[in-house]
Amino acid sequence: MVKVLPSLLAGDFSQLGADIEKMEAAGADIFHLDIMDGQFVPNISYGIPVCQAIAEKASIPLDVHLMTYDPTQFVDDFKAMGVDMLSFHIEATPHAHRAVQLIKSKGMKAGIALNPQTSVEAVRHLLNDVDFVLIMTVNPGFGGQSFIESCAEKLDELVNIRKTIDNPFEIEVDGGINNETAKICKAHGANLLVSGSYLFKADDAAAVISGLRND
Ligand code: DX5
Ligand code: ZN
Repeated sequence: MVKVLPSLLAGDFSQLGADIEKMEAAGADIFHLDIMDGQFVPNISYGIPVCQAIAEKASIPLDVHLMTYDPTQFVDDFKAMGVDMLSFHIEATPHAHRAVQLIKSKGMKAGIALNPQTSVEAVRHLLNDVDFVLIMTVNPGFGGQSFIESCAEKLDELVNIRKTIDNPFEIEVDGGINNETAKICKAHGANLLVSGSYLFKADDAAAVISGLRND
């Protein structure tokens, strides 16, 4: 089932509550929260207190995308605020399997994220355990970048591996998603579509969300 996840990074930080209400009314499925530490990626977004405020306001599930080193540092905080899905980057830790286990032990869905330069082979050993794989379709750190088309090949690889194992992990795409690139991603097996600038710039968010989901 295809779901649309607005990335609040593209929202208006002076009035996130209004953006949350607007996206929920427009039919968003899950909010995507981008956490950047200024080290793993060359940008800092927002942290725990802002996530807490979002969690209190939002009534749909939350998907936290950690672009940080030490992905286990705030697991208890995210659990306490009711986060449903928590992903971190394979490039950010030598202990990815341990982090997946920790996230799942707290009752959250665990996701492994891959930068454009990272091959599926790098996460092959985790595919029996993760709840979802996040394929970055831009270099992480900023919204508003262009979709990197070669990343779609990784979706095919994941779909093929998934057929051979007993774990029906979901496939999320993030970066440069618009109506056209969403079609490419869905055709290659992605079912969780993150959208930031394309969705937040739209006059009719409900139409954009249903277009991303159904076109
Ligand atoms: C980038 C973030 C994305 C970003 C997507 O590092 O992970 O979630 O907000 O924004 P758009 O859809 O504008 O590329
Ligand atoms: Zn993201």
